[in-house]
Amino acid sequence: MTAPVFDQSFRDHLDTLFQWRRDVRHFRRDPVPEPVLDHMLALTCTTPSVGLSQPWRFMRVDDPVRRQAVKEDFTRCNARALAARDETDSGDYARLKLAGLDDAPHHVAVFCEPDPLQGRGLGRMTMPETVQWSAVMAIHGFWLAAQAHNVGLGWVSILDPDRMKTLLDAAPSWRFMAYLCVGYPEEEHDTPELERRGWETRAQARKHWIQR
Ligand SMILES: Cc1cc2nc3c(=O)[nH]c(=O)nc-3n(C[C@H](O)[C@H](O)[C@H](O)COP(=O)(O)O)c2cc1C
Repeated sequence: MTAPVFDQSFRDHLDTLFQWRRDVRHFRRDPVPEPVLDHMLALTCTTPSVGLSQPWRFMRVDDPVRRQAVKEDFTRCNARALAARDETDSGDYARLKLAGLDDAPHHVAVFCEPDPLQGRGLGRMTMPETVQWSAVMAIHGFWLAAQAHNVGLGWVSILDPDRMKTLLDAAPSWRFMAYLCVGYPEEEHDTPELERRGWETRAQARKHWIQR
């Protein structure tokens, strides 16, 4: 295959994709067509991974009983997180919506296989955590692929990882990485919801260069 030359028009579209990718907490209930979900996963599987280990495990959670149990765990963990905050910002925290678990038509739990056979151990002797980093990169790929299909994704991490493994009957060696709500967003924004609600502001890009 001839290598493509990415032109300015492509870069403009890519900028738009990055600008409009959001963490989504308000979903419509209509499902995303299966071929779209499959394409998102196919793109995700092109993500780089240490030693080409592809250690990510994307699990569809469709069972309403399991979904309800995840929701209950979120409610418990979120209440604990709220209680742990000092009173100066607990009101702000309480007002945030930190999960779209009720409405998102698709739930995807992501695990990492910490010592996969695939990749034959390459590149991870001194930094075994690169396996987990690979799984996180895959989640980012999934997120961008979703946005390219106008599909929203919300990352829920206010969960007990051990409980998630039990609830979702994960393999004992797997590490819980993320719980993703997936579906069409109720609204589109080019700024993070946490910024719009006054919780935090994004720093200017130039502040992220460190020089030595
Ligand atoms: C590792 C990770 C964990 C996150 N966990 C949560 C979460 O539990 N609940 C939530 O509402 N958002 C969560 N988010 C989303 C962030 O709040 C969001 O990415 C950030 O506010 C910037 O907004 P944006 O993604 O729309 O640009 C998480 C994001 C990452 C990368």
